[in-house]
Amino acid sequence: MADIKRIAIMTGGGDCPGLNAVIRAVVNTAIRKYGLEVMGIRHGYHGLYHGDFIPLTTDDVSEISTIGGTILYSSNKDNLFKYPRKDAEGKILKDENGNIVYDDVSDVAVENLKAAGIDALLICGGDGTLTSGRDFSRKGVNVIGIPKTIDNDLALTDYTFGFDTAISVATDGLDRVRTTGRSHHRIMVVEIMGRGAGWMALHAGIAGAADVILIPEIPYDINKVAEKIKADKEAGKDFSIVAVSEGAKDISGERVILKIREDSPDPIRLGGVGAIVADKLEALVGSEARATTLGHIQRGGTPTAHDRVLSARYGYAAVELAMKGKFGRMVALQGDDITDVSIEDVISVHTENVDPQGELVSVAKAMGVSFGD
Ligand code: F6P
Repeated sequence: MADIKRIAIMTGGGDCPGLNAVIRAVVNTAIRKYGLEVMGIRHGYHGLYHGDFIPLTTDDVSEISTIGGTILYSSNKDNLFKYPRKDAEGKILKDENGNIVYDDVSDVAVENLKAAGIDALLICGGDGTLTSGRDFSRKGVNVIGIPKTIDNDLALTDYTFGFDTAISVATDGLDRVRTTGRSHHRIMVVEIMGRGAGWMALHAGIAGAADVILIPEIPYDINKVAEKIKADKEAGKDFSIVAVSEGAKDISGERVILKIREDSPDPIRLGGVGAIVADKLEALVGSEARATTLGHIQRGGTPTAHDRVLSARYGYAAVELAMKGKFGRMVALQGDDITDVSIEDVISVHTENVDPQGELVSVAKAMGVSFGD
């Protein structure tokens, strides 16, 4: 057993269903099983930098596991190793060439943790948040990672928490637009989140019986997609469901960027491909096509039972790792088992992508799904 008396938990990056269930599991395990003190770090790395720490009790986390979002708040704009210099009003400063000036302010965070007597830092995050987690680990902070993201794109874990909820919402979206598709003989295009990975669109597309699934890992030829829909039409199916991942690329390799957030470590925000695909299909097929973007609806609301259980398992396992003194590790699900892996190894992969030759793609193709390839 490591000499651990006080731990802290932080939620970073985009909010995600199951964060509160993880917080509840961490606080309860730490206090009820080990008699530890638990601090919550608010607003992700922003709070770590500014010392925004609050004590957490079992009462504070009662009744929260059914609620989406995070009681600790989050931020995806704060990389303390490359922190934009700001003026007194908080405006980002640029040099004479118009480039943002960055500072490494990570030492301030390390001092804050020391001053608060925190022996272990549990970080719920995706690849951006855990990249900083790795860097804090390299600086000697006792970090444990907990894999959070609706995108399911972290390496060395089969599933991240939040994914199950997000694909359930996306599947429901596909089920619901089917009604209008069938009633009006339309092509219904649904844009699904997932950043550079197609896991969400692939899973929801299979569950929602989509006719077409477009994912970043398989560049699509819109003419081939149109041919598939026309062939279905000729065979008597007069509506189509198209699941498009927000990061889908056409054969030129282009993906559709919604905006650039200059103040974010991961500045590219994807969005808009669904409307483009719908317009092109309408012109090529000659049927009315409509696009729906599910957006943040996929990240909000009550986590599924599966995500709540996974979150509880991860939270429990993270405290167990802390008590064993196994730092620089991330809790992970491999098969049915909770295990732990090196954060260094997870981050070195960067994004875990769908295998275009993999089983899930084969399953979808066997159902007649076109990937536009
Ligand atoms: O990583 C989770 C995610 O929801 C992605 O699927 C999406 O591309 C991105 O975050 C959106 O980020 P933001 O909420 O900052 O616009």
